Amino acid sequence: MAELLNGQQRTVMCGDVTCEYIGKEITLMGWVHRRRDLGGLIFLQLRDRSGIVQIVFDTDICSQDLLDKASTLKLEYVISVVGKVRRRVGNNINPNMKTGEVELVAEQLKILSEADVTPFSIGDENANETLRLKYRYLDLRRESLQKNLVTRSKIYQITRNYLADHGFIEVETPMLGKSTPEGARDYLVPSRIHPGSFYALPQSPQIYKQLLMIGGMDRYFQIAKCFRDEDLRANRQPEFTQIDLEMSFVDCEEEVMTLTEGLLVKMFKEIRNVDLPEHFVRMPWTECMNRYGSDKPDLRFEMEIQCLDSVAKQSQFAVFANAINAGGTVRAIVLKGGADQLSRKDLDRLVEFVKTYRAKGLAWYGLGKDGVKCSFAKAVSESELDGIASALRMQAGDIALIVADADWQTAVVSLGALRCHLAAKFGLIKPDTFACLWVVDFPLFEYSEEEGRFVAMHHPFTSPKNEDLQYMKIDPARVRAKAYDVVINGDEMGGGSMRIYNREVQKLMFETLGFTDEQIAERFGFFVDAFKYGTPPHGGLALGLDRLVMVLTDTNNIKDVIAFPKMQNASCMMTEAPSPVDDKQLQELSIVCEEKND
Ligand code: AMO
Repeated sequence: MAELLNGQQRTVMCGDVTCEYIGKEITLMGWVHRRRDLGGLIFLQLRDRSGIVQIVFDTDICSQDLLDKASTLKLEYVISVVGKVRRRVGNNINPNMKTGEVELVAEQLKILSEADVTPFSIGDENANETLRLKYRYLDLRRESLQKNLVTRSKIYQITRNYLADHGFIEVETPMLGKSTPEGARDYLVPSRIHPGSFYALPQSPQIYKQLLMIGGMDRYFQIAKCFRDEDLRANRQPEFTQIDLEMSFVDCEEEVMTLTEGLLVKMFKEIRNVDLPEHFVRMPWTECMNRYGSDKPDLRFEMEIQCLDSVAKQSQFAVFANAINAGGTVRAIVLKGGADQLSRKDLDRLVEFVKTYRAKGLAWYGLGKDGVKCSFAKAVSESELDGIASALRMQAGDIALIVADADWQTAVVSLGALRCHLAAKFGLIKPDTFACLWVVDFPLFEYSEEEGRFVAMHHPFTSPKNEDLQYMKIDPARVRAKAYDVVINGDEMGGGSMRIYNREVQKLMFETLGFTDEQIAERFGFFVDAFKYGTPPHGGLALGLDRLVMVLTDTNNIKDVIAFPKMQNASCMMTEAPSPVDDKQLQELSIVCEEKND
């Protein structure tokens, strides 16, 4: 039978019981983590968020009643124990536990709550994920998840302190709002009072934070929930959290980047005791794509993409020559020592791998122990092969993996993906490293084949570079943005930009995007209007908080850093959301559901 606390108070957390408490009487509360019964002696491990401590029920000291009561305890019972701390001796000392030098000799025990047998054993890191998510509250008792959430909480505190120290004020913005232009699909909320009308949950507070600048708030931040209905991956959730900020009277990307670096340096120091460089590398987008085939390059390993155009121009191999003649390119990466490591079967798999990135194929040329292995040897002379080897500075044992494509981006992106794939496969990623950089000078626009027009690469309020304004009308693809992304270990940690605050430039932007006046008025009318009444130059950024916690806690699964995450299909195993609702609720919202026949 469970008992009441009746005013009893916990005096110490389990994980904090160390030698300083020896001889003292304390009261602990927590969950029964383990139990060992040795006849007249019962050993328990008691667990709370701070850790685990050993408790002994010893007939030499405690009454038979107490021992009998202790023998009814089962795993995950919630109890309170009063007793004296004593030093453990001999083999009993556990050097792997923070509390391993002491134990509590129980004098009183209360069973506060009994527990059924749990669907999986707490602390079993290998328990099935679906089961763990269904019983997330039990999964949350796991030490690693608790540590991750504690780290997450520290990140909130560090962020709040740092930004407050830099003159930022925390402002909340609405969840029920109008569609924002981040480019993903919106989550919509039907309005009861306005049948047929919908709120959109914010994809980010982008519009509001710019309006706060117009509203004179000067420097804003918010730890903001964002909602995006997009395909989920290991680092994406439908609802996620941003450290969102915006500052007024800035016109230069450096100001926001420097401020952000300061925050990240502080965070990594306080949480991991790691000294990040005070100034991260700034790499223009084009250079990033050419060297790493990605706008979020992983700099923890080399294997940069190299250009073979000068050799390929005169190639006897039609695939290379044709790519160049079509205005394309031939690029390669070299896997050091890979010639003998990659079997023919492996290479065939790599061909299939690059095809998923739209490359038409993959050529290889390796300087193996048993001689050259080359997929296009028949088509070219030995001297051309020598030319390739010297252009790529290949050494004995190396293998070059080559993509020729009429489209530059396809060539570099497919090799960029292959670079990461091989680095993971061959263990080339330097451990315990945080490789940070800023990607800058993004194109302002990208051409959307689907829509047959230019679309904004970030969002339509991102400012063009002053010197590129002249190309807005004549060559939009050439216009660079005052935008920046911060990348750590090959993952995009955040991004932002200087915003357009000049009405003429905004008009030009909308024209290039092909918006009619009616579309502008309908989609962002209130926003564009606001700019008429005195707008400070402003810019900002948002850091993906979940991704930062992932890097800081060394996990590659975003679910490990969110208390109640969603599954890959955006559902919640625990609450079973989303779920059908009562007809009455639908009626109130004037919504009729139809079966979808795909
Ligand atoms: P952006 O869309 O680049 O910029 O988002 C900023 C950062 O948020 C993180 N992020 C995500 N994290 C988890 N799950 C997701 N589905 C997800 N989507 C994005 C990434 C990303 O870098 N309003 C602009 C910022 C600005 O211009 O100030 C914005 O939202 O780490």
